[in-house]
Amino acid sequence: MGTIQARMEAALQRFLPASETVPERLHRAMRYAVLGGGKRVRPLLAFAAGELTEADPARVEVVAAAVEMIHAYSLVHDDLPCMDNDVLRRGKRTCHVEFDEATALLAGDALQPLAFQILAEHVVADRPDAQIEMLKILAVASGSRGMAGGQAIDLACVGKRLSLPELEFMHIHKTGALIRAAVVLGARCGHGLDAKQLGRLEHYAKTVGLAFQVVDDVLDCDASTATLGKTAGKDAAHEKPTYVSILGLADARALAEELRAEAHAALSSFGATAVRLHDLADFIVLRKF
Ligand code: IPE
Ligand code: IPE
Ligand code: MG
Ligand code: MG
Ligand code: MG
Repeated sequence: MGTIQARMEAALQRFLPASETVPERLHRAMRYAVLGGGKRVRPLLAFAAGELTEADPARVEVVAAAVEMIHAYSLVHDDLPCMDNDVLRRGKRTCHVEFDEATALLAGDALQPLAFQILAEHVVADRPDAQIEMLKILAVASGSRGMAGGQAIDLACVGKRLSLPELEFMHIHKTGALIRAAVVLGARCGHGLDAKQLGRLEHYAKTVGLAFQVVDDVLDCDASTATLGKTAGKDAAHEKPTYVSILGLADARALAEELRAEAHAALSSFGATAVRLHDLADFIVLRKF
């Protein structure tokens, strides 16, 4: 994990505009939001999925950076006063607190197209039509039928009691969509998978994507601000519908465990090439931050 995290830090450094480039303040805010923090779970998933298809790591690095930039932008906007109004992220002041709201908004606005720019500028597939398909996968995962749509539902549901299927729908979109994209894009950097294998990989991706947000909900209630590097207890304070508010802490934890087993089962036919995906399902469910 450490090797890939370090590799990603260097790659993101290269792909981001330099702080000295005009407009400096915007570029500093973009670098602040992306660099020097975060677990890099989505890049780790992309590299692990790439192992399944013997992908060139240089290609995986590009798709992983693109997904991480979309993720970083989503966090900047998620923390804005008009959304979750958070002051702490990755152990630092949130982007709008460190800079200002307009700069944070623009940093998010600029990170999003940068993700697509780097995905368009580097060859990540053998054929142009396959590369365009990859751009589309990231676009759909980020947009109103993916992360942004899930965030809209999250905001619309404050103070409401959701049914379990509604809650699952929200989580699969706001968090699951980008996680799925990380897995699928990482795998697509290498040789093709047959329809059955792709179906299993997609099922793994959907399952860990949901598990990731279930655990995020658990940690919000269960862990400290110091270990999380973001404000704990915010979901209850803001009356967010979460797995903890609907199921209670014990059942939410049990669900995460079920999803871990389901993710492992989805990988069973892949053998040794899926060992890192297997271990990442463990990390996603057992993590403490
Ligand atoms: C936090 O994501 C926001 C969610 C989608 C739940 P991460 O827990 O991956 O945040 P970083 O990247 O490690 O800071
Ligand atoms: C955010 O979910 C999901 C995103 C798309 C950013 P949360 O609002 O629960 O994420 P945290 O807890 O602030 O990291
Ligand atoms: Mg939120
Ligand atoms: Mg939030
Ligand atoms: Mg949360």
